[in-house]
Amino acid sequence: MKVREVIRAANNFANLKKSKISKKDFFRLLSHACGIESYRLILEIDQDINLELPEFLKLVKMRLDGNPVSKIVGIRSFWKSEFIIDKNVLDPRPESETIIEVALEAIKDPKTVLDLGTGSGCLACSLSLEYPLATVIGIDISAAAINIAKMNSKNLGCQIEFIQSSWLDGIEGTFDLIVCNPPYVSYEEYQTLDQTVKNHEPSEALIPHMHLSCTGLENYFYFSSRIKSFLNKGGFALFEVGANQAPLVENYFKRGNGTFIQSHKDLDGRDRVISVLNM
Ligand SMILES: C[S@@+](CC[C@H](N)C(=O)[O-])C[C@H]1O[C@@H](n2cnc3c(N)ncnc32)[C@H](O)[C@@H]1O
Repeated sequence: MKVREVIRAANNFANLKKSKISKKDFFRLLSHACGIESYRLILEIDQDINLELPEFLKLVKMRLDGNPVSKIVGIRSFWKSEFIIDKNVLDPRPESETIIEVALEAIKDPKTVLDLGTGSGCLACSLSLEYPLATVIGIDISAAAINIAKMNSKNLGCQIEFIQSSWLDGIEGTFDLIVCNPPYVSYEEYQTLDQTVKNHEPSEALIPHMHLSCTGLENYFYFSSRIKSFLNKGGFALFEVGANQAPLVENYFKRGNGTFIQSHKDLDGRDRVISVLNM
């Protein structure tokens, strides 16, 4: 079947122009279904492809029903790699790449790296590939997330130890680099999130606890009194923060002694990472 014919069939099925499926999403789904890269499908719409049309139309229907493309195809790109994802882990977000950028600027060759709340393992694996000599540990409270992180680590050829634990409870020793993208959405903000996010991302990855009183800042408060004792001298802890949280989170960490606190901007110029240096 030619790509052009698939487009026509999908149009008859779903009226693509009027639907919410973008061209990019459509070709990502098609690429997943036939195993040919999206750009090649777009460039050569008269090429013949091997495709089970009914199966492909099921994917189109899933997208029409509001499923994110990454959750349908089970793959998401992050930094320099592709990660398996499913309903148990947060889709890695481009803004979280700021943590990797800040880490690479801050510290040349850490010997020990800890990723708190590893989810898909996107930060742990990316850092392990950037710092091949480092010993990397990833922790998460979710056993299902740990399984996905282990799969990603294996596929990418990383040697990472994954531990199921609640934050620092099961952690011993000190580290040169700690990274953490904790749940930071407030209860109020959670109510306003798009259904796509609410229905397809685990709530434990988004919000610290599902109660009216949740400010979104709870995990930073917890880490602010503890993180220094898990850092080596000269070591850094990097925390992703929500769009307007940087000043508040900075203040939490500034109450401790012997640390230097800074905020760092993402590509859009928003303060999205707080660094804590153990001096
Ligand atoms: C925002 S997601 C970050 C996932 C991944 N690191 C990323 O950047 O895409 C937060 C992660 O923290 C985990 N988490 C939530 N509460 C936790 C706790 N008390 N201890 C350990 N992990 C926790 C969630 O399961 C989730 O995987």
